[in-house]
Amino acid sequence: MAHYALPPYSKLHDATPLFLSPVFSSSAKATNRRNPLVRMAGHVSTGGGGNVASFEEGHLERPRWTGETPLSRLVGALISIKPLYSFMKLGARRVLISTAEKTNIPWRDMTKEILESEVYKELECVENPAIVYPDYYLNPFHAYDEGNLSWLAAAEAEAATMSMVRRAIPDAPSLDEANKIVRGNWLQAIEQHHLQYSGSSTIRDILDVGCSVGVSTRFLADKFPSANVTGLDLSPYFLAVAQYKDKRKAPRTNPIRWIHANGEATGLPSNSFDIVSLAYVLHECPARAIVGLLKEALRLLRPGGTIALTDNSPKSKILQELSPVLFTLMKSTEPFLDEYYMLDLEQAMREAGFVTVCTNLTDPRHRTVTGTVPLSP
Ligand SMILES: C[S@@+](CC[C@H](N)C(=O)[O-])C[C@H]1O[C@@H](n2cnc3c(N)ncnc32)[C@H](O)[C@@H]1O
Repeated sequence: MAHYALPPYSKLHDATPLFLSPVFSSSAKATNRRNPLVRMAGHVSTGGGGNVASFEEGHLERPRWTGETPLSRLVGALISIKPLYSFMKLGARRVLISTAEKTNIPWRDMTKEILESEVYKELECVENPAIVYPDYYLNPFHAYDEGNLSWLAAAEAEAATMSMVRRAIPDAPSLDEANKIVRGNWLQAIEQHHLQYSGSSTIRDILDVGCSVGVSTRFLADKFPSANVTGLDLSPYFLAVAQYKDKRKAPRTNPIRWIHANGEATGLPSNSFDIVSLAYVLHECPARAIVGLLKEALRLLRPGGTIALTDNSPKSKILQELSPVLFTLMKSTEPFLDEYYMLDLEQAMREAGFVTVCTNLTDPRHRTVTGTVPLSP
């Protein structure tokens, strides 16, 4: 059973306590602790004046299995032994697929459906042949030898995303309920931050960097139906799946544009977006790329624009208490986790030029960090 409590909010952000509200009074908290989903559902459906839920933090700055600790070094040493790494990689994959299928995510069926479809035809029109991939992107990743540059990775991406959401809210009765919390709170954090700090509430253009097969992009487009939404990713295979899925759905009133580019150097015009979102991207990147992504987001955003970063929270109690088997398997397929956990993300955002940086644990495992481009230079 998960525990839910208010975090020491003042330590978490350096702006006005935007998300604190009477809903989080001790009595509301006590009532809702009995049924976290009821409590969360209330928050998710709240409009602009609502607030974002909060979850329990651990006692550490980051999990012991990350960074420079002896435990982290031991795990690193184990992973560096080639035969052991291959064994772990397979183990990680097996655990991922079986846990997904146990929660009714038909991982293998979904993958087969994509691989046997006409998705391959989409590649030519989404791929940018001039792209230069950063070196970190060319390494084996997520137990795929070709990293994200493969059809298998693309075909499995949506099931993997669903599984991540299920893992975050294991008590949820369905994927939809889990999404209401994980995606709902993330969207709400973005909306509230923008309303509070943008100086204008109009959201005309949204960029989803690291959109993968478009799940986060569609959530953004549904939440902000009057905005022009662009999904951008480095993997043309993922974008081909995103575009293929679009063609099989009813046409949207706000069609999504898909772009194959590096989020560190998009080639898109400066000052052209109100929101730049990076959902579950940063833990896959080395620190130098994170800094590059932040700089590019600052350039792309209009004054008053909002950046929203959602990803694993170093302070999550659940992640701090993860079992050794799970964190070892996870680290074996995520080469940049240590760098991600070691980076002071809020500080990096301020150094890039963002102000009103706010951090909110939007589900038991993930934080959403939002910031604003100064209204005047
Ligand atoms: C876990 S997936 C994102 C999932 C998706 N945003 C969602 O919430 O469902 C991370 C994505 O980041 C992309 N990525 C990593 N580095 C990137 C970069 N420098 N520029 C653009 N995309 C990048 C990867 O190709 C991958 O699709």
